[in-house]
Amino acid sequence: MKIYVLTRNENLYSSSRLMEAARYRGHEVMAVDYMQCYLVLDSGTIKMYYDGVVLEMPDVIIPRIGASFTDFGAKVIRHFEMNGVYTLVSADALEKSRDKFKCLQLLVGHGILTPASAFCHRSGYSKPLIEKVGGYPVIFKLLESTQGLGVVLAENKTTASSILDAFDQLDTQVLLQEYIEESKGEDIRVIVVGGKVVAAMKRSAPEGEFRSNIHRGGVGMDFELLASEKEMAIKAVEVLRLDVAGVDLLLADRGALVIEVNSSPGMEGIEKYSKKDVAQSVIKYIEDKIANS
Ligand SMILES: Nc1ncnc2c1ncn2[C@@H]1O[C@H](COP(=O)(O)OP(=O)(O)O)[C@@H](O)[C@H]1O
Ligand SMILES: [Mg+2]
Repeated sequence: MKIYVLTRNENLYSSSRLMEAARYRGHEVMAVDYMQCYLVLDSGTIKMYYDGVVLEMPDVIIPRIGASFTDFGAKVIRHFEMNGVYTLVSADALEKSRDKFKCLQLLVGHGILTPASAFCHRSGYSKPLIEKVGGYPVIFKLLESTQGLGVVLAENKTTASSILDAFDQLDTQVLLQEYIEESKGEDIRVIVVGGKVVAAMKRSAPEGEFRSNIHRGGVGMDFELLASEKEMAIKAVEVLRLDVAGVDLLLADRGALVIEVNSSPGMEGIEKYSKKDVAQSVIKYIEDKIANS
């Protein structure tokens, strides 16, 4: 197969591992910097220019779209889709999963449990909503962010109020979320490939931090999921119509809750801590998908 990995930097761990796994399995692979793609629609044709020439269509694309480039990245993916190319992440699924509140709406709409969450159109107006998600401490999240960078914990009314005023001043919308205190700075990252769990790890935040992201200094360890947790992660990925995704779970006293579904899950932490070859599972899944299409 001819595979393009859509990435800004082919040396990033996940992109390079996917390329390595695809080459190892005998495929022709090329990295395409999607931000350098020019999209042209003319007289019923759908062309893409790259490096000044029309880009030949591959059999498959594996999008690794950066968090800051969702909108343009989705347009590039859609161009490939319109040319009949199989994409591991559809433009639609990318857009849905990247907006944290939209993602929660879809999950709850399909009966998947999440922490209590709320949203209104201006951060400054959302103070009365804090009581609706369980009071203090409370979590605020930017709608689109990754690696824990847009997630804020406000301990009390004074901090919450000033944080919301600052977000409002910046014209930035945030969602409000119940703080799951008993998860004690730990979460579970589950990787689902083709409707099956292929790896899972528990991540623990460093001292003095509530965010367990590896990029925030979190440390992982292999984790054995309960059957119900596996089922929950698989269903969450199905709801978002993703073929491959990373699901983050918090273990609350009332059971597991989904906090997000990530359409470009990082592979470094999960491969290191679970000792599973996630990249190879992804390529094998694509092979089966194409063979059966
Ligand atoms: N409601 C919550 N209660 C407790 N901890 C949370 C909550 N939401 C997020 N966290 C912590 O913050 C981390 C980052 O949150 P997440 O929603 O996954 O955003 P990101 O996309 O930046 O990873 C989580 O991995 C978890 O450790
Ligand atoms: Mg996360």
